[in-house]
Parts: sequence; C-alpha cells; structure tokens
Amino acid sequence: MNHAPKRKEILSRDEKKLAIRNALRYFPPAWHSELSAEFAMELEKYGRIYMYRFKPGYKIHARPISEYPAKTVEGAAIMLMIQNNLDPEVAQHPEELITYGGNGAVFQNWAQYLLTMQYLANMTNEQTLHMYSGHPMGLFPSSKEAPRVVITNGMMIPNYSSQDDWEKFNALGVTQYGQMTAGSYMYIGPQGIVHGTAITVMNAFRKVLLKTESPNGKIFLTAGLGGMSGAQPKAGNIAGCITVCAEVNEAAATKRYSQGWVDELHDDMDSLIRRTKQAIAGNEILSLAYVGNVVDVWERFYEEELFIHLGSDQTSLHNPWAGGYYPTGLTFEEANIMMAENPELFKEKVQESLRRQVNAINKHSEKGTYFFDYGNAFLLEASRAGADVMSENNIDFKYPSYVQDILGPMCFDFGFGPFRWVCTSGNPEDLQKTDEIALSVMQKIRNSAPEEIQQQMEDNIKWIREADSNKLVVGSQARILYADAEGRIKIAQAFNKAVSSGKISAPIVLGRDHHDVSGTDSPFRETSNIYDGSQFTADMAIHNVIGDSFRGASWVSIHNGGGVGWGEVINGGFGMVLDGSAGASKRLKNMLFFDVNNGISRRSWARNKEALFAIKREMKRSPNLKVTLPNIVADKLLDGLFE
Ligand SMILES: NC(=O)c1ccc[n+]([C@@H]2O[C@H](COP(=O)([O-])OP(=O)(O)OC[C@H]3O[C@@H](n4cnc5c(N)ncnc54)[C@H](O)[C@@H]3O)[C@@H](O)[C@H]2O)c1
Repeated sequence: MNHAPKRKEILSRDEKKLAIRNALRYFPPAWHSELSAEFAMELEKYGRIYMYRFKPGYKIHARPISEYPAKTVEGAAIMLMIQNNLDPEVAQHPEELITYGGNGAVFQNWAQYLLTMQYLANMTNEQTLHMYSGHPMGLFPSSKEAPRVVITNGMMIPNYSSQDDWEKFNALGVTQYGQMTAGSYMYIGPQGIVHGTAITVMNAFRKVLLKTESPNGKIFLTAGLGGMSGAQPKAGNIAGCITVCAEVNEAAATKRYSQGWVDELHDDMDSLIRRTKQAIAGNEILSLAYVGNVVDVWERFYEEELFIHLGSDQTSLHNPWAGGYYPTGLTFEEANIMMAENPELFKEKVQESLRRQVNAINKHSEKGTYFFDYGNAFLLEASRAGADVMSENNIDFKYPSYVQDILGPMCFDFGFGPFRWVCTSGNPEDLQKTDEIALSVMQKIRNSAPEEIQQQMEDNIKWIREADSNKLVVGSQARILYADAEGRIKIAQAFNKAVSSGKISAPIVLGRDHHDVSGTDSPFRETSNIYDGSQFTADMAIHNVIGDSFRGASWVSIHNGGGVGWGEVINGGFGMVLDGSAGASKRLKNMLFFDVNNGISRRSWARNKEALFAIKREMKRSPNLKVTLPNIVADKLLDGLFE
C-alpha cells in the first residue's frame, strides 16, 4: 500500500489537544478514553488523525448502482463515485483517503466517510447534503430541483491560505485540500488526464515540428508517474514520440509499469541513455521510465548531447514541502525522513534542486528545446527558489504554461474541455455503447463545424474511436472526451435517450474535471491565458458553481487550491445524473450550456480572439444568450498616453 508521507509537525501542544477534541466529537463519550490515546498516537506518528480503525472491512470500489442501498438514484450514484475515488486500484494513498496529487483528499478521516455514506443512503429527493471539507454537516430540507449534495473544500478566509495554513488547519481536522476531482467525487483514474495530456503533447509537437515531420523518434522529457503524471508516457505513445519520464518513487513507477502505462523501467542512468539513443536511431514510439531524479536526467542528457524536442515536469510542486517534489542528491527514503524531521533543511534542498533543474533546462532550451510548465506550479516555485526563470520584464516567466500556449487558445477559449461520463451499471458493454453514441454525435457535428475548430473535432473523434482499444479504464466504467458546449449537450441528450429506451442499462453520471473552460480561476494555469488582469480574480469559478447548482446539477463543488496549490486557485465542478427522464433532458441542456458558456464569455471579455469567435457564434445560435462584448482599443492610442 502506498501511504501518504508523514506530515510535518505544526501544531502546538494546545492545538494538538484541540485536534483530539475535534476528532472525538464524532464518537460517544464512552469511547473517548480509548480513542483519545489512539488518535494522539496517529497525530504524532503521521501528522494527521485518519482514524484508521474505522476504515471499513469491505472492499471499496465502484459497485453497480443497483447494489447501493439508497433512496435516491443520485444518492446511489454519489456513493458509487466516492467509492471509486477511494478504490485502492484508483487512489494514490487510499488508507489516508487521498485520491491523487499527494494530498487530494476525499475525506479527512474514516468517520467522515462512514457518516457521509449513511447520509447518502438515507437522503430523500427533498434533502441536500452539505459537505464542509470532507465533514458532512448534515441533510437539510430542500427541493427536488436542488442539488443533492453541495461540497466545499478548503474555502478559507483569504488571508489564511498559505501552505502552512493547510498543514495547520488540516491537522486540526477543520479543512482539507480537495484537489479537483478528488474532493468532488469525479476522479476517473489517469484516463481523465491521458486525453488532455495527449492533446497537449500532440499540439506541442505541432508547434515545434514542420507539417511534414512526425514526432516518431523525438524526445519528450518529463517527470512524475503519480496520479495524473502517470498519464504522460501513455499520452506520449498516443502522440507517437519517445517519452522519457523520471520518477523517484519506485512503487509509483512499478505501478504504472505493471498497469501497462509505460513500456520500460530503467533504474540505471547508463541503461536509460543507451536505450534512448537506440530509440532515436530507430525512430521509435516508446515510453521509458527512469527510476530516479529528473534533475539528473536533464543534466546527463545535456552531457550526452541528446536533443530534447519537448520538455516539461509534472512533479507535485503545488505541494513542494510535503512530498510533492523530491530534491536531487537525496534518496527517496532520506527525503521522506528529512521533510518530517528537518523541514527547514528540506526546503533548502528542494530550492537548490529546482535551481539546478532550471539551469539544465535553460541550457537545453538555448539549443532549441521547447519547455512548458505543466500546471504544477513548477515555474512559480522555481522563481520563488531564485531560479533563472523570469523573462526580461521580470514579470512573466521565460517559459509558457501549457494553457497559455496550447490548451487555452486551442481548447478552452473555444469551449473544449474534459467532459466525462460514468456508466453506473459497471458494465463494459454500456461503456462501448456510449463510445459509439459519442462518436456518431461528434462526426455529425464535425460535418458542419467551422474551420476554426476542425482540428479539435478531428483529434477528439480519433480519441473516442480508439479509446476502447487503448484500454484506459481503471476503476469505474468511465470515459473522457474533450467536447465543446454543443458536443456535450448533444452527447448527453443521446445518452439520456439511450437510458430511457433501455439501450443503456442504468443511469449515466456526467461530469468534468475542474480543469476546464469555466470551472477554474487559476492565474498560473487554467486562466494563465487571460491577460486583462482578471486572472487574479475568482468570480468565474464562483458563478460557475452557483450557476450550475440552480440549473440542474446533481451535485456541485467549489475548492481552494485544486491543481496548483492552496491559495493559488479557486475551482468548481459538478456531477449530473442522467436517469433517462424528461427532467434530466431539460436539466442537462440548461446546465451544460451555462457551464461552458460562462467561461467562454469571461474569456471573450478578456479579449481572447478564439473566445470572441466562439461566443459570437453561440449568440447567433441561441437568441436568449446576450453577452457583453469588449471593444478593442488600438495599441497606438495608448502608446503615448503616460510618457
Ligand atoms: N496531467 C495533467 O494534465 C496535469 C494538469 C495540470 C496540472 N497537473 C499537475 O501535475 C502535478 C502532478 O500531479 P500528480 O497527480 O501526478 O501528482 P503525484 O504527486 O501523484 O505525482 C507526482 C510524482 O512526481 C514524483 N516526483 C517528485 N519529485 C520528483 C523528482 N525530482 N524527480 C522525479 N520524480 C519526482 C513523485 O514521486 C510523484 O510520484 C500536480 O501538481 C498537478 O496539479 C497535471
């Protein structure tokens, strides 16, 4: 079992007592004396109180929806989604209720899990369950039209959003870091990310190669084989390049290898170099995992004069001091001990390592490597470490983020994002039928799609056609497909009809990653291609979650910190159950339309060309949509204004 690292000691003696008092409020006083000693031990030993003894003995995994003892179809569907997020096959640290990203939690402790499952089982369709950072506050009377669950994770008073605030308030048991899909019960395993990563890698190669060149035999160097980063080698294979991916944690590397997500494992640098050279010579499509530190790979590849076409990094730098980034020069075990026992020294080691990594990247990029930040706060943390990553104006980074150059202008601004669905029957045949339905809807849309989005349509049609044979399912029977508002609505309508006619045997859950057009305000990632200053505001994500909640979402969630870290982002998401009813058909149309176009309108107000195109097109098709459009100011008018 892959356990979460010990969290650093942050509570004072009085605060530790408060943490125990907080934990014990879940239990009758007769149990307090025994549990207090046990919880104190957990707090000292792991830095958190997980309440391990309350982890249920039954197997946790997504069961067919009919097996859940619930009064509502939504309640059962949400139980299924929660269990999928905690399935040991799917989750990164399942015993600590962490799904991915090192600290992306579904719950803070097992008592919260048990209580929540019980509430969901008993909930009627005139009640709503309110979740405060993993804690089920309770069922409140509402209405049939209301969301069944409202989730917040890590919502803090803004001044209390530093990394150490997370350590402290999470250790006290009053908040948690929900990442994106972890705390919103929408994680579908690394598949969710393979698609986005494949699109990113394919488009990055399109940027650096001539139209006549192929990515075969060309190197994509990166790091991380964890929850999301584990998708990189698979995506590299789909894009057709040589992926070299370093991973310091042998257990993580071996897991991905045994799942078939990476072709070869190398724990010796010389053997990695030999194999890479052979793959270049043979123009191969291949993925290589190096069990070791990525800094060493960047440096050694430079010495060996190996040309890297694409470079990136997916270590968890949103969580730099607690196991997200392992510094070079220390073994994995040494680093784990140091981060808990000597956090100050560990921080220095991380920063020194980042400076070394950036020096090596800079040398490669002088030779022509295209390096991009993969939304893991790499450039942000490297800049904080004093690494040479700033551009001449000292405001921007010298490298783009993948959203600035690729996903923003090519996908999000047009409304394309990580739409996904789960077949709650658990039957792979249902999933195949949904793939076929989605393919035929996309093909129809492509025939009349404008030139501007033809490439997107082609990439996504290819993806869905090959999805089954790429064997991407881990956990629930789920699929991801980048689609725009039109695609999402038409696919969802077709699914709802198929459920209603019995062609598909059980309801379908719709959702998406928060990492989307509209869900996330994140100046260093999803909204890094917003240039009107509003990238530091979070109105869009808040409107997203409130707007979705009264337009028919079955559950909504709003988080602090998903992806890039606590205090750096606000992100929202939803889940929607399609039960084949007329009500579901109305809800999906209303909600999915807003869920995408809210983001496009904000992006167009920020003067993004592609978003302006998309929102004008949508207003023509939808007379009820009236969006405020920006007037564009000529540069020369401003040039002389303040001289
Ligand atoms: N895949 C995507 O599309 C995507 C998109 C946006 C952001 N991200 C970001 O990518 C990061 C990774 O996400 P994750 O879920 O995979 O996290 P994770 O913690 O599960 O995986 C990161 C892995 O990096 C390894 N690692 C850390 N330092 C290393 C080093 N110096 N050398 C080699 N390996 C090292 C860790 O052992 C770990 O297994 C997160 O910050 C996430 O927000 C991913």
